[in-house]
Amino acid sequence: MADLDRLGVPPDRSLAEVFGGRSGRSPALSEPGHRAHHVPEHPAWWQREVIYQIYPRSFFDASGDGIGDLPGIREKADYLAWLGIGAVWLSPIYPTPDADLGYDISDYRSVDPRFGSLEEFDSMLAALHARGIRLILDLVPNHTSDRHPWFVESRQGPRSPRHEWYVWRQPRPDGSPPNNWESYFGGQAWTYLDPPGAWYLHSFHRGQPDLNWENPDVREAIREVMRFWLERGVDGFRVDVLWLLGKDPELRDNPVNPDWEEGDPSWLHFLRTNSEDGPKAHEYARSLRSVIDEYPDRVMIGEVVLPPARAVAYHGERLDEAHLPHNFAMAELRDWSADEVRSTVEGYEGLLPPGAWPNWLLGDHDFSRIASRVGHARTRLAHMLLLTLRGTPTWYYGDELGLPNGTFTGAAVTSIDPQASTAPERDRLVARTPMQWSPGLHARFSEADPWLPLAADDPDLTVERQLGDPDSVLNVVRALIHLRRRTPALSIGTYRSLPAPPGVFSFEREHADGAVQIHLNFDDAAREVGLPGRSRTLLSTIGPATEASSTHVVLAPHQGIVVGEAVLG
Ligand code: GLC
Repeated sequence: MADLDRLGVPPDRSLAEVFGGRSGRSPALSEPGHRAHHVPEHPAWWQREVIYQIYPRSFFDASGDGIGDLPGIREKADYLAWLGIGAVWLSPIYPTPDADLGYDISDYRSVDPRFGSLEEFDSMLAALHARGIRLILDLVPNHTSDRHPWFVESRQGPRSPRHEWYVWRQPRPDGSPPNNWESYFGGQAWTYLDPPGAWYLHSFHRGQPDLNWENPDVREAIREVMRFWLERGVDGFRVDVLWLLGKDPELRDNPVNPDWEEGDPSWLHFLRTNSEDGPKAHEYARSLRSVIDEYPDRVMIGEVVLPPARAVAYHGERLDEAHLPHNFAMAELRDWSADEVRSTVEGYEGLLPPGAWPNWLLGDHDFSRIASRVGHARTRLAHMLLLTLRGTPTWYYGDELGLPNGTFTGAAVTSIDPQASTAPERDRLVARTPMQWSPGLHARFSEADPWLPLAADDPDLTVERQLGDPDSVLNVVRALIHLRRRTPALSIGTYRSLPAPPGVFSFEREHADGAVQIHLNFDDAAREVGLPGRSRTLLSTIGPATEASSTHVVLAPHQGIVVGEAVLG
């Protein structure tokens, strides 16, 4: 799944419409000049730090089989520490038959042998912790693999004690599937199996049967899985498709979308109001969170791909659900104009429940790469935005090199993403290519042929080359992360939009220790911005900004700067 289709918005509609909601359910954008005053008194690590997402099969291959692995991550722990990130979020590492590349799990308490062993997991975790880096695992509670022993038992029929662990139904009288729900990967969300002579629900691939969350035994089994990893020392979970756990208990048909018009994509034909985000979704989110709260200082992140007004509800009415329901607003931006970015930030800030902590990401393993979405010139601007906004940034591995999307020509490669098999233009593998470490064979990701070709065989797109160039994307990103870490205004300060010339988005972050201003020129033309007295440029995306006078600077096209008082702690 990727992009606006996951918000249920066709490609020709703007983000403002997403916020406004075609169905009119979401509140409108807040007025410009928005302020967010809340400064956490005792900020948690997950508020202060940058979270770095690793797609394990593509980070570093230590075993020499072309597939990234856990010892590979351990070997690169010094790189992560050097970059300055505070936590790693690891996409699934569990045994998987790969119907959905790891998101179909056949054993929740083990490591896929291609990635390593439990002992190698412990050793990787110790290496990260030794460097002050936390580890967040992916938890996939909505579905298992069809090879998971629970499903193998369940499909034996009603006499099996685990039959009710999955969602089985009889066909409708005309023999058609039990309801009109559709899989996110295309086609109906039901597959018939005999035995037991019934249809089972799968919101994704047929190899990913949905667990029956109405069953308390299922809920407790998942809570036990969480405890297994929390006891091992992990620092939290990113909960996959959190908003899908609560479905209509009666499994009623999804209603037809009244706004659907001939020519709109077929996946918009139905509103997914009964198949997701149902009445019990928040109760289930709270039951996961309560396990997190059994352990000190852990975090729960939720994947919630809904219009922002509904997504922020997953903070919980008492802030007792996800600490960070992922905010995909920036990943969905269309034209990256200053106005669009500003209204996105203000819209989201305006929707956050009181006391809730914001978060931002530019994309993840389901989206195309930010460098390909915004183009080379604006990539650094997007990076500066992510790392200076109020709220926890989630970084996607490889973006610090400016890696573009991979382009694959062989059908054998594209067909492994189940989403690509029904919608080749939405192949998610484009953003999952190997990390590029050094010039040389396979960018020194692996000694063997990598499981997926490199995005670009370009020696300048490697860590080694960019390390040596002070103006590289990598060094700018690292400088931003370190500036954010040592500047309380940036890590936990307030947010306020500033007046700015057309094409420029300016905002201020403030803390008792000092304030900083961020000026981002999204325009193709140079723009002059005013500066507060006694300030200087702390960081620029591309070379220094030209001083126009003691109170003004000229930003080059697509230049961004952070300015602050002459001396910052
Ligand atoms: C989430 C994951 C995605 C996966 C899907 C099914 O959206 O991010 O990669 O395909 O869940 O588990």
